[in-house]
Amino acid sequence: MIVDSHAHLQWEDFELDRDNVVFRAKKAGVTSIIIVGYDLAANEKGIKLAEKYGFYASVGIHPHEAENFSNKTLDTLKAFCLNSKVVAIGEIGLDYYKCFSSKKSQLNAFLSQIELAKELDKPIIIHDREAHGEIINILSKNKGDVRGVMHCFSGSFEMAKQCIKLGFLISFAGPITFPKSIRLHKLAKELPLDYILVETDSPWLAPQSKRGKRNEPAYIIEIINKIAELRNKAFNEVAEATFENAKKLFEI
Ligand code: NI
Repeated sequence: MIVDSHAHLQWEDFELDRDNVVFRAKKAGVTSIIIVGYDLAANEKGIKLAEKYGFYASVGIHPHEAENFSNKTLDTLKAFCLNSKVVAIGEIGLDYYKCFSSKKSQLNAFLSQIELAKELDKPIIIHDREAHGEIINILSKNKGDVRGVMHCFSGSFEMAKQCIKLGFLISFAGPITFPKSIRLHKLAKELPLDYILVETDSPWLAPQSKRGKRNEPAYIIEIINKIAELRNKAFNEVAEATFENAKKLFEI
């Protein structure tokens, strides 16, 4: 049992061969995929694809899309959540690296969607780029009221421990397979297996052997392999543990 906990199968890069991409994922042993949304159109499409392929969806407004976030957006997200395929709110968060939206609008969208997750009792999928302090601050204020996962984690060991204490899992994507990702290697080796998820973030962040190319869920194998190698464990042990962790978090 293998789950890719974060893939954007709705992205236009998959328009021409999506069925084949899903076929290759299933052939590689991927039993489930969380199709993660980032704007309203992507959320809607993600749900449709989850229905078509028997996967799950997450709905949310990405920090890059936060500028036009309104109460109407929130109502639409809420309506999406009535669909039983929707298992989380995300990806949401803060991106102070690219800053495609103002910090003010990013914070407004993030905080509003955390409130939505609390109201609906759904886990959140967090995007954090160069906003570590602010994210920890916000999660601390909501301690015990919200749970979720730090998608494609890029913080320090200390931050990972804080996130775990605040009820969050740590998710590893393609960068874990890069030779120079020393800090991530240490994390994947030393964090308790109960707090780890795996994801591809397709079509982004392809693992080392496919670096620079379009990523797809079948490549999750390389990520699990790397974590197994770092921990000196069998592939199956890491695959099963990360599957169980995802199952518990997303109630799938
Ligand atoms: Ni993503």
